[in-house]
Amino acid sequence: MKEKLEQIQKAAIEQIVSVTTADELEAAKVKYLGKKGELTAILRGMGALTAEERPIVGQVANNVREAIEQAVSDKRALITAAEREKRFEKDKLDVTLPSKRRGLGRIHPITKTIYEARQIFLDMGFTIAEGPEIELVEYNFDALNAPKDHPSRDMTDTFYIDKLTVLRTQTSPVQVREMRANKPPIRIISPGRVYRCDPPDATHSPVFHQLEGLVVDKGVSMGDLKGTLDMFARKMFGPETRTRFRPHNFPFTEPSAEVDVSCFACGGKGCRFCKGEGWIEILGAGMVHPNVLESCGIDSHVYTGFAFGVGMDRVTILKNNIDDMRLLFENDLRFLSQF
Ligand code: DAH
Repeated sequence: MKEKLEQIQKAAIEQIVSVTTADELEAAKVKYLGKKGELTAILRGMGALTAEERPIVGQVANNVREAIEQAVSDKRALITAAEREKRFEKDKLDVTLPSKRRGLGRIHPITKTIYEARQIFLDMGFTIAEGPEIELVEYNFDALNAPKDHPSRDMTDTFYIDKLTVLRTQTSPVQVREMRANKPPIRIISPGRVYRCDPPDATHSPVFHQLEGLVVDKGVSMGDLKGTLDMFARKMFGPETRTRFRPHNFPFTEPSAEVDVSCFACGGKGCRFCKGEGWIEILGAGMVHPNVLESCGIDSHVYTGFAFGVGMDRVTILKNNIDDMRLLFENDLRFLSQF
């Protein structure tokens, strides 16, 4: 019986050592140590032994069981380690691989232009005022001296929300808000979005950006306007830049002018950029109309003022040599990442 036991131990350990998976190991364990296992069968037969033999064989049988159990647990540790190793191998991370790029946000070219312009005016002592994009007809047109039949009031030009409310078509209503809320001296700029019923094309967008300027005080003259805009043009487009005032008509200024800057591509000689003109139009301006001052409760016999409105999208396009305005609003990262 002792020999039989030793044979079982030998066979069991050989098998256990040779298995390669947890399932095979479990099967081997059952085969020898399970309820119907070989060792168990032998132990059952111990009843037939004599009283002297029994403890001796029992001792051997215990040793055999322990040896097999030890072999199983050693093997299990090996298999577990091997499986873990395999999993690690499969899930291996190459920490040297380049990561997926998460593009960094950056400042939109229009915003950049507005920041630049804003700083120029802040340096000249202007402060920044804001107004709502949903604006009263009263501020957008009436108080700005726009005649009741002015074409800009048309539904085809202006987005009406209702009879009294529009998406502002210009930043000029901020002038009215400022003059009604404050006493002169007033010296503000107001950059912001404006809206018009224009289908988008290379030079138009239903939403665009203006920067409004307003100065009201005693003795403010056209010369002050010219000086201010000259300074702005030189800082914005380069120290050689000159300005040119052309007579124009706006309801809210008298006299009114459209203002050109000398072409910053050719310096004024005429090139493809300025279409041979030597000049590029960038803003409207003028002396605040007495009717506008009065509609805001400012005595036009005591105070005068100048105002201007710069097209910031246009300036952005010109400064960056962009040939289609739509690019500014499509949010295509391939375009935006160039700035
Ligand atoms: N609001 C005008 C426009 O949208 C621009 C403008 C012209 C603003 C003359 C002014 C100004 O303040 O004085 O075309």
